[in-house]
Amino acid sequence: MKRIILIIAAMAALAACRESGWTKQEMATIMDQGMVMYVTTVPGDSTILRTKCTEIGPKELKSEELQTLIAKMKATVTDPSQDGVGIAAPQVGISRRIIVVQRFDKEGEPFEAYVNVKIDSLKGEIVRGREGCLSIPGLRGIVPRNSIINISYTEVPSGTTIKEQIEGFTAVIFQHECDHLDGILYTDRADSLFTY
Ligand code: NI
Repeated sequence: MKRIILIIAAMAALAACRESGWTKQEMATIMDQGMVMYVTTVPGDSTILRTKCTEIGPKELKSEELQTLIAKMKATVTDPSQDGVGIAAPQVGISRRIIVVQRFDKEGEPFEAYVNVKIDSLKGEIVRGREGCLSIPGLRGIVPRNSIINISYTEVPSGTTIKEQIEGFTAVIFQHECDHLDGILYTDRADSLFTY
């Protein structure tokens, strides 16, 4: 009898995963934590930080888990313990193409989430600025980045593709966070690195 109940429970869990598009492990990472999630750091969490993330599919796009993950990523990056200007999903243990960026180019400088975001073109001039990363504590670097970028992303939950041109410091944050989705860290691109 117990075995039958276990099998039914396992089947229900599998069905829930198929329904939402998330794996069981992803659902546990999203749902089992408080609003402020564990932030992955090098070298201990290098495997996930160096892995190319997979896209958010149509099922995940409409799921409650995506809404929860976005809310938790915003809560994590803005938490006083982190105090960041951007965060990517692999930094909270989810190998999916989602980032949260502080829009310094918008009124009120809101934190906004972007799903399946990609940089279509790098333009403008190359500007060298100071960067840090929540996943690399105690380090800063000078990194060359483009001053203007064109991005596209998937609107939640409609699935519509949106295109946008972004400039200045906000464009730098987008480049840093989009790199995370391909397993690239700013230290790979930095001219110089220093501890603080
Ligand atoms: Ni980072």
